[in-house]
Amino acid sequence: MAWIAPSFLAADIWRVAEQISGLEQAGCRYLHLDIMDGAYVPNISFGADFVKSLRPHTKMVFDAHLMVEEPGRFVEDFAQAGVESLTVHVEACRHVHRTLQQIKDLGMKAGIALNPATPICAVEEVLPMVDLVLVMSVNPGFCGQKFIAGALGKLAKLAEIRSRQGYPFWLQIDGGINLDNAAAAVAAGADLLVAGSAVLGAADWLAAYKALAAKAL
Ligand code: DX5
Ligand code: ZN
Repeated sequence: MAWIAPSFLAADIWRVAEQISGLEQAGCRYLHLDIMDGAYVPNISFGADFVKSLRPHTKMVFDAHLMVEEPGRFVEDFAQAGVESLTVHVEACRHVHRTLQQIKDLGMKAGIALNPATPICAVEEVLPMVDLVLVMSVNPGFCGQKFIAGALGKLAKLAEIRSRQGYPFWLQIDGGINLDNAAAAVAAGADLLVAGSAVLGAADWLAAYKALAAKAL
């Protein structure tokens, strides 16, 4: 069983209030916030002040995914913005252990993300301390890209390590998730499925959310 974390990046900016409260009323508990700096990834999205302005309007857990160079520079800003879970890319941190510790010290859940080309061994040493491991199933930067199926094998390996070592982290998959691959991602061990274009990017986004949530049961 897994939860859906719709990505705000795919929201219709003209109907944001309707979309956020509609998701919440439908039982959605997680909102995925994609933060992009135009340097680590070839796209710019929004920052901590923007997230802070959303905070009073929903009780959904803010699951922020930092696709920025040296994310340690922004950890405090996102804590102050009311983010509960902060995920950083292992490839973007010079001192990843320090950054994860900083996130935890500020009372947030700490997540580590791996790009499609990054092997599990790159995060092995921090697996005992993280609350979440995010497996990218597209290259980070944009909504609407094609799912990279190799991510399922990586998820399954992480799930196996988790159960063997008794680690408590959640597994998240992000990129190209839709009705055709959601069940396979859950079977491979995912607890949280991020969906951008397949939920808030869909014309009937509420029905799309419900259909995807049903696949994740
Ligand atoms: C990609 C982002 C994703 C994105 C997912 O860089 O991390 O969270 O919003 O969008 P879809 O589901 O359309 O691939
Ligand atoms: Zn994301």
